[in-house]
Amino acid sequence: MPKHSSIGIFDSGVGGLTVFREIARALPHHSLIYLGDSARVPYGTKSAETVTRYSLQAAAHLIDRGIGMLVIACNTATAAALPALQASLTIPVIGVVEPGARAAVARTRGRVGVIATEGTVRSQAYTKAIRLIDPKIEVIESAAPLFVSLAEEGWANTHVAREVAEIYLEPLLDANIDTLVLGCTHYPILRGTIEQVTGDKIAIVDSAETTASFVKSAVRHKPSGTPKHQFLVTDAEERFRRIASDFLETEIEHLELVTL
Ligand code: DGL
Repeated sequence: MPKHSSIGIFDSGVGGLTVFREIARALPHHSLIYLGDSARVPYGTKSAETVTRYSLQAAAHLIDRGIGMLVIACNTATAAALPALQASLTIPVIGVVEPGARAAVARTRGRVGVIATEGTVRSQAYTKAIRLIDPKIEVIESAAPLFVSLAEEGWANTHVAREVAEIYLEPLLDANIDTLVLGCTHYPILRGTIEQVTGDKIAIVDSAETTASFVKSAVRHKPSGTPKHQFLVTDAEERFRRIASDFLETEIEHLELVTL
């Protein structure tokens, strides 16, 4: 990665901010450019072909802005488009599934539950990544699409979110999982609500933290000067500003509306 370039982080909406926050903590001297494709969220209900096309467009836009590394802060886009992005770009591309799978294997006693979007569950990306490391681990994947809308709506800590969490998590609790992977970058926004339902006996894996350490180990230089973070969205920038400021607990200064 060239010395002065920034790190590009891409998601379908606000979910990738969970990854942005961890990368900003792990690499406080680096400038980050976050792109949320808010005009086309959700990705989780779309086909792998469509998600791949959207991801290539987002990557091209970030490349034009001079990024030196791309983090796909979206499990759905990682599951659908990581090989296509790695094949078409000349900069390092890091996805969120492998770091999440590694963290799950490190924690589990043998039974891992994964909640994710329909697209990620359909791809079985987590089952494949976990079994590649340890074929004996039992993996149960389940789609939780409403969590994306609840996070995008700013409804993470409501009784509605709690009821939805109870319904989605019941089959996984019945299956006696010992570890739960939040296999969508929107879901850590609901982590408190999810933990109220899972209790303290189930380990929660949030791939944002593990992805940030992957990114940190892939970056070899420390830039000089003050880092500048930019935020790009494809629609509804004021909505993004509100949700992102709440989540990051800081004012979003450089926010721009872009067309991909
Ligand atoms: N945040 C995304 C993920 O990690 C997807 C949300 C969506 O657009 O459906 O899968």
